[in-house]
Amino acid sequence: MNILLTGGCGYIGSHVAVVLMSAGHQVFIVDDLSNSRRDVVGNIAEIAGRSPAFYEGDVGDVAFVRDIFRRHQIEAVIHLAGFKSVGESVQWPLKYYQNNICGSLGLFQAMEAESVSKLVFSSSATIYGDPQYLPVDEAHPQHVTNAYGRSKLHIEDMLRDISASRPSLGVVCLRYFNPVGAHDSGLIGEYPRGIPNNLMPYVVQVASGKREVLSVFGGDYPTPDGTGVRDFIHVMDLAEGHLAALNFLSSNKGWHAFNLGTGRGFSVLEMIRAFEKESGRTVPFRMAARREGDVACSYADVQSAERALKWKATRVLEDMCSSAWLFQNRLSTKD
Ligand code: UFG
Repeated sequence: MNILLTGGCGYIGSHVAVVLMSAGHQVFIVDDLSNSRRDVVGNIAEIAGRSPAFYEGDVGDVAFVRDIFRRHQIEAVIHLAGFKSVGESVQWPLKYYQNNICGSLGLFQAMEAESVSKLVFSSSATIYGDPQYLPVDEAHPQHVTNAYGRSKLHIEDMLRDISASRPSLGVVCLRYFNPVGAHDSGLIGEYPRGIPNNLMPYVVQVASGKREVLSVFGGDYPTPDGTGVRDFIHVMDLAEGHLAALNFLSSNKGWHAFNLGTGRGFSVLEMIRAFEKESGRTVPFRMAARREGDVACSYADVQSAERALKWKATRVLEDMCSSAWLFQNRLSTKD
């Protein structure tokens, strides 16, 4: 199948590209490189044994996207392009609405104009807000607390309206929990710009000596060891979830949403210990105040995804840590 993959040079997008290509699909990446690197295309090609097509540009540019749809008879879209920093979205909400919502709007207009009728959208567990019960299932009340989360929720809602008006359309929104790790070749992974916001890239940089010490945000949560608990999912499991969603759309129409996680939580301290074991390095850390907006504990109910998509996360915490470490080491030898 010919698939348009927006944000295909990014952390998750590059892994999705590899999975789709390994399954025999033709991948056409659109990425504006605002938070990614062009040389990722070469790394995807090295893993997949052939190169994806690459277009640098804005997914919200309707004429540009329509042209790609026509030229390559695109049958499905996997839409990952978007800004993703919670803190930045609080500071610059308009930037998030412009890029994430307006970008998606242009893409969906182009899809309608060219009758492209399959879409997988990258949503986030952030739309659930502070969990009212655990595990968090897809029917959990939605409560967004920042512009990033609101942009994701708004796009989900837009898609609900669009699919109600266009019965030929099939839409799957995938609500990611906490993707970590890298492809086991070490060729693609997460390249955070500046100081990492997320736990795993920060841990990796402390282990490699790039940063001195990790701050553990909160040691007084009502969790077994007092630190935050998250559903960390290997990025390759997550990427395979996109292929499963695409396969689901070959026989399903309408709007659907599924959680992608492992169904179990690990604490920040458990993550640090697992990483130390896999890397053979120590990760110096100090306890710090809670980070504003953080929740104590979040993990997914994944039964719906397992049943409907016939997909399940199979990789364990050790795989997440060892692959992230391998990627970091490859990066260090290249620099
Ligand atoms: N943490 C630290 N120190 C750090 C960074 C994080 O202790 O330097 C802790 C956090 O306090 C939290 C846990 O590690 O307890 C995980 O934090 P992350 O920033 O890695 O992930 P979040 O769960 O906060 O956020 C992630 C994504 C968001 C998404 C959210 C929704 O980054 O984009 O999941 O589930 F919105």
